[in-house]
Amino acid sequence: MIAITGANGNLGKATLAFLLKKTLPGNIVAIVRDAGKLSEYIGSGIHIRTADYEDQQSLEKALKGVHRLLQISASATGVRAMAQETRVVQAAVRCGVKEIAYTSTLFPHESAHFHAAHICRNTEELIRQSGMRYVLFRNSMYHETIPLFIGEAMGDGRIFYPSGSGRVSFASRKDIAEALSNVLTGPTFNNATFDITGAETFSFADIALTLKDIAGYHDAAHTDISPEDYRKGLLGFGLGEDEAGFYASMADSIRAGEFEKTHHSLEGFLGRKPLGVQQYLKELF
Ligand SMILES: NC(=O)c1ccc[n+]([C@@H]2O[C@H](COP(=O)([O-])OP(=O)(O)OC[C@H]3O[C@@H](n4cnc5c(N)ncnc54)[C@H](OP(=O)(O)O)[C@@H]3O)[C@@H](O)[C@H]2O)c1
Repeated sequence: MIAITGANGNLGKATLAFLLKKTLPGNIVAIVRDAGKLSEYIGSGIHIRTADYEDQQSLEKALKGVHRLLQISASATGVRAMAQETRVVQAAVRCGVKEIAYTSTLFPHESAHFHAAHICRNTEELIRQSGMRYVLFRNSMYHETIPLFIGEAMGDGRIFYPSGSGRVSFASRKDIAEALSNVLTGPTFNNATFDITGAETFSFADIALTLKDIAGYHDAAHTDISPEDYRKGLLGFGLGEDEAGFYASMADSIRAGEFEKTHHSLEGFLGRKPLGVQQYLKELF
């Protein structure tokens, strides 16, 4: 059986939908915290099992009989996320899961600015040491993060974001889900690591220009505000210190070029060109 953690999240649900086109529902185990969040699949034949990343026993119960697991990275932050992801790997080992795919980040290195990169780095290492065969998807930023980063600029094109001239090889979450479904239904995992990116990179100045083209925003431009002003702004919006620090670390990592790598592996998994940023933004208008 093939299991997915975080199966009701954006990436998990999209992967589930693609998986259903490739394998029988009875081969799929969707692991969620709250079965009600996958109510549309109740009675579909998919095994919906509940588990919490905070509860090792629930994870071990949910992973019984699973051969292949897609571990979607945690949405928590800091030490909590690290402990959660560690529990998933440990539970998989204890349950005899043979193959694991994990959604890492593009630059999971010791020197990374992005806070989540350190969680992913740790989880990757646990997986490599686990004895399970693996596929690591080092995902670039989703297209879907763009509206999150630029906020009100979706309405006027005036982007205030401390990314300098940093470029991002944004990739579509839906494309990543399709690629993951191909991996999950494909040949034996061969301990491979893939950089999962779009075909092109975009700076935030490029995004402003794209918005000018698509939405006709005459004043569209990117202003590179200071990281400190950005952090203060986030705190002003009511975010806590940790959350503000997390988002600031994303901007720092973009500024440092940690998301600028491109690779053709996503295209290889899809057998077609990945969705581009222009196309994604066009669909929003
Ligand atoms: N590359 C990028 O640009 C990017 C952007 C955002 C996130 N990410 C990473 O990619 C992952 C998937 O993205 P996404 O958009 O699908 O995120 P998402 O929609 O927030 O989904 C997160 C999933 O994790 C589940 N979850 C959270 N805490 C849990 C717990 N304690 N026990 C069990 N399940 C728990 C959530 O379940 P509930 O509904 O019960 O909370 C949900 O199913 C994220 O978790 C994050 O690590 C990457």
